[in-house]
Amino acid sequence: MIHHSLRVLTLFVVMTITQMCSSTQNTTTESSFMNIIPKPQSVEILTGAFVFDTENTFSIQGALSNQIFFEEFLGSLIPGLIRSTTGSADIKLQVLQETDLPVEGYSLQVTPAGIQIIAGDESGLFYGIQTLRQLLPDSVEKQNISIRGHSIQSAVIQDYPRFGWRGMHLDVSRHFFQVDFVKRYIDMIAFHKMNVFHWHLTDDNGWRLEIKQYPKLTEICAWRVDREDQDWRKWSPIKPGEQSTYGGFYTQEEVREIIAYAAERQITVIPEIEMPGHSSEIFAAYPGLSCKGDLLPVRPGSYWPNEDILCAGNDSVFTFLENIIDEVVELFPAEYIHIGGDEAAKKHWKTCPKCQARIKAEHLADEHELQSWFIQKMERYIQSKGKRIIGWDEILEGGLAADATVMSWRGEAGGVAAAQAGHNVIMTPSSHVYFDHYQGNPETEPQAIGGDSPIQKVYSYEPIPAELAANEHKYVLGAQANLWTEFVKTTDHAEYMVLPRMTALSEVLWSAPEQRDWVDFQARLQYLLPRFKALEWNYRDLDQDEASSE
Ligand code: ACM
Ligand code: ZN
Repeated sequence: MIHHSLRVLTLFVVMTITQMCSSTQNTTTESSFMNIIPKPQSVEILTGAFVFDTENTFSIQGALSNQIFFEEFLGSLIPGLIRSTTGSADIKLQVLQETDLPVEGYSLQVTPAGIQIIAGDESGLFYGIQTLRQLLPDSVEKQNISIRGHSIQSAVIQDYPRFGWRGMHLDVSRHFFQVDFVKRYIDMIAFHKMNVFHWHLTDDNGWRLEIKQYPKLTEICAWRVDREDQDWRKWSPIKPGEQSTYGGFYTQEEVREIIAYAAERQITVIPEIEMPGHSSEIFAAYPGLSCKGDLLPVRPGSYWPNEDILCAGNDSVFTFLENIIDEVVELFPAEYIHIGGDEAAKKHWKTCPKCQARIKAEHLADEHELQSWFIQKMERYIQSKGKRIIGWDEILEGGLAADATVMSWRGEAGGVAAAQAGHNVIMTPSSHVYFDHYQGNPETEPQAIGGDSPIQKVYSYEPIPAELAANEHKYVLGAQANLWTEFVKTTDHAEYMVLPRMTALSEVLWSAPEQRDWVDFQARLQYLLPRFKALEWNYRDLDQDEASSE
């Protein structure tokens, strides 16, 4: 009750200030700076304002790898933007070579004479433009109509992110999402000044990445029978003679296109190739790589326990995986390759003669050590290609690979153990940042996998676990939300699950923790949601629970 009335009061105050300061329609006021999400590190409001004209000039200084992108992006936000032909410009963008601006940071200065964004790198410049975007009318998101007369209060913003890893994951195996949607998802990540797209490309329900050396991975392993009309947990298996018609995959050309699209938006694409578990789709074409050797058509729906697994005793498995990695490292410029490692059931390893022979030959204690041996072997190969591995926190069991980064998903324990052992970690606990979980009353929400992660809980998340000593904080690179798509069949639904929880997470990852304020955030979010509407992004309304319980 207290929370609710405080919130209403805050909204009232913010709205009143807006009304008092708005002298004309289409005028932005001081309150715009107060509404930016994620909240900037510092904002100093000055007197005066910059007013847009019918035509506005811009200039760009400094070495940019893709100046055309910056010009087009800015031009898409500011109607009537033309390149300055004189020394002065209304909007000046500048990347400085020598600067003490923080990594990914920027300074944005507005005076009556113009707007200047200065950064020490292209990311910072991009984020400065994203901040400027939130100071422009929502209409710029969909119409190229003049913003003449729109004014921005004079101010200086100094801004930079708290964490270097600000991630969003998308599972494209359980349900497949087309290239256009992947780009749209990347747009959402970029809007929130987040910088990692974790692409979950392979899992039991479909292999989604073209591998030239193994065409059957996409001819066969990318397709399953269509059970879209059934509950995911009550799937019925393939019938004799039935065609596998649901699925899809990304060609290597499409992958390159997506990586380039993300790079322009300062986003690194991390591919995930699951091993040794969550790999049964492979056995639809290559049954000899499992312990049991059975041909398994790609399954619709989940099954538990998920026991089919790559055989750790079969050398052909490693040849196969290494050949795949060869193509993955060629395609993806990222420093990291995610190799999964989660939920690998050891049942078949326990009875498989080849796996047991491997345990003996390598003097391993048990199947957990066999999993570690598997991951460490793959790590050595991936390192030989100049890359590093990430794995889910199960890779801790049986001993952590030397340079592995751990994604802590089963709560925080894995992250704490890895950081205490001097390993980098990315926090992604299912308790707070699994965006496949319910965000409201399950009776009125679209079906989700379970859980309870309303936006306020996401907003309350602190990525540095309390157990870590101050000198261990540096191992926490940041955090990430995961969107598993068992129950997410459509792009509309995917957007609904991430917006605006992603907005809350963006502030957790970017802004100073002492500035975090749930009441204030909700008020700011009310100003941001109409922009999502203008962008035609599907989001969950903040008041939806109250509306449905009234
Ligand atoms: C996971 O959710 N199995 C990483
Ligand atoms: Zn085996």
